Amino acid sequence: MNPDSAAPLATRLCRADAASIAEAGEVLRAGGLVAFPTETVYGLGADATSGAAVAKIYAAKERPQFNPLIAHVADLAAAQREGLFGPEALALAHAFWPGPLTLVVPAAPTCSVSDLARAGLDSVAIRVPAHPVAQALLRAAARPVAAPSANRSGRVSPTHAAHVMGDLEGRVNMVLDGGPTEVGVESTIVACLPGGVTLLRPGGIARERIEAVLGHKLSSPAAQGPVTAPGMLASHYAPNARLRLDAQSVEPGEAVLDFGGRFTDVQAASFDLSPSGDLAEAASQLFAFLRALDATGAEVIAVAPIPHEGLGEAIRDRLRRAAAPR
Ligand code: TXA
Ligand code: MG
Repeated sequence: MNPDSAAPLATRLCRADAASIAEAGEVLRAGGLVAFPTETVYGLGADATSGAAVAKIYAAKERPQFNPLIAHVADLAAAQREGLFGPEALALAHAFWPGPLTLVVPAAPTCSVSDLARAGLDSVAIRVPAHPVAQALLRAAARPVAAPSANRSGRVSPTHAAHVMGDLEGRVNMVLDGGPTEVGVESTIVACLPGGVTLLRPGGIARERIEAVLGHKLSSPAAQGPVTAPGMLASHYAPNARLRLDAQSVEPGEAVLDFGGRFTDVQAASFDLSPSGDLAEAASQLFAFLRALDATGAEVIAVAPIPHEGLGEAIRDRLRRAAAPR
């Protein structure tokens, strides 16, 4: 449905090429909604500088609250017009941009990201994505693009254009199809604020790699009192099925999300995130397999134990949220 009226929008699904990306840039500049691939998940983009455009994101997603959104820009120079980068933020930007890292920094005096996209905070979340379609779209839009994951609120994040269409057809102007996303989980969010450097959300860049650049451990928001990333609501990534995590065996009737070929001889639907036990492969398959298992109508999905280290932290985080009671 068009958030502004009862009539649904005619959503155009386009293969991402130079012509469709140029057109998508015009749609964004005119205040419309464009879903596009990044290397993590598909994003639901709007002109971050326009409160009216950003409001359409919340309506299309049916997001209950005005969570702050990530502003996507093409490069560090554009990022520095929006936010203030101290030495640690700069070191992380140089090490991981373009890529699956979001930095929350104090808003610069020249910040153009709307109050609505920042949820009234005096900080701003910025990411420079690596995906060539996202890069080309940001250059075509020539302004920061606010983009949460392109799913309806409470659903699993989309890693294929078909997932986006399933959730948002009739609610967005355009969907750019760039094939399946490579990383498969959202960006790691690190806050570099006067209070220190904290990990707000584990994601596509493993904590260990960030700590290696910083030369010290990251603190967690849990140890810091109030959570400053409201997107970290417990049941954010929600399939209909109930998830049983760290399963040591499979009960009759349970669907299975396996890792490393632990469960053989399963009767119900079963997917292995990575038969060889590769965490990057597992992250890239996670959301598509959750959607596929959910679509079988299974009531319970038994999930094999996932290692804690590296990208395992982000995978376990998303599984924990998906398993949270609601
Ligand atoms: O990989 C990703 O990050 C994807 C792709 C599309 O780029 N985007 C994404 O956006 O996951 P979203 O809106 O689902 O997540 C944004 C997160 C939320 O948890 C939000 O609370 C946090 O960023 N955030 C945004 N601005 C913030 C701020 N100023 N302070 C603290 N947290 C902030
Ligand atoms: Mg999301």
